[in-house]
Amino acid sequence: MKYRKLIVVGDPHISPEPGEHRGVDSAAVLERLIEHVNVNHADAEMCLFLGDLTNEGEPAAFKRFKSLIKPLNLPAALMVGNHDNRANFQVVFPDVDTDPNSFVQYVRDFSNDYRLIVLDTLNGPPYESLRRHVGMLSAERIEFLKNSLDEAAGRPVVIALHHHPFEIGLPGMDTIRLMNGPEFVKIVNGYPNVKMVLFGHNHRQISGVVQGVPFACFSSLSPQTPFSLTSLDPAGGIAESPHYGVVLLTPEGVLVHREDFTCTDEPSSNFDEQLANDPQMAAGIQMLAKAMLPDYEWD
Ligand SMILES: [Fe+2]
Ligand SMILES: [Fe+2]
Repeated sequence: MKYRKLIVVGDPHISPEPGEHRGVDSAAVLERLIEHVNVNHADAEMCLFLGDLTNEGEPAAFKRFKSLIKPLNLPAALMVGNHDNRANFQVVFPDVDTDPNSFVQYVRDFSNDYRLIVLDTLNGPPYESLRRHVGMLSAERIEFLKNSLDEAAGRPVVIALHHHPFEIGLPGMDTIRLMNGPEFVKIVNGYPNVKMVLFGHNHRQISGVVQGVPFACFSSLSPQTPFSLTSLDPAGGIAESPHYGVVLLTPEGVLVHREDFTCTDEPSSNFDEQLANDPQMAAGIQMLAKAMLPDYEWD
């Protein structure tokens, strides 16, 4: 299969000081994730962090996040979420691209024609009220989205934003979804070349198609949201394992794989070993694979 690969990471929630937050040491999880990406996905184009890089947005938390991702061998593409503070982020990461209005929005074009559009849905400042947790795309940010879609001129597009633009069925999280989601969806519906929308914020793996918009949402590196279709609690943490996404941009469309990087189990069978001991079966499998996978790169 021909593809360009993106690594997609949900909400790290890094604090300034070492230690556990609601039972999880998210810095340790992030370190483990980076090690895993470096070993297993050195061929990826970039590692996209979907916002909520920090838990409270302090400069020290961003500095700690910055030092934690230093060992990452891929280019990092950073986003802000409701737990971040844009001004503090931009002091620590002055080189991250912004749109003409200084929002953390930018595009990345890949050699296979795909365009990634990164949006900033952070509803602050001010950062004091509960409303900061609701997402917002202000008029100038919407303008950037429209211009970026127009400039794509029909090329396949993936959009990444921190907040979900429609209800996903978890009342606690739907209370703090993107405030002007319908406006976002209406725009996206006007561009059939938008192949996928990626977001975090929900601290759960969720995927589907809503109002014609295909989406994928990723777990956090901090506690996950318990699965409840009735609870209004957006913060109740549960110790489900984290994952990161391996997103394949192919000529046919977008695939979203789950990498369980904390799973250390060995596969229960070793197929390669079996084939090495059974040349007849190996020849049969290879013949079948060659027929079914004409693009496969054989050693
Ligand atoms: Fe969030
Ligand atoms: Fe979060």
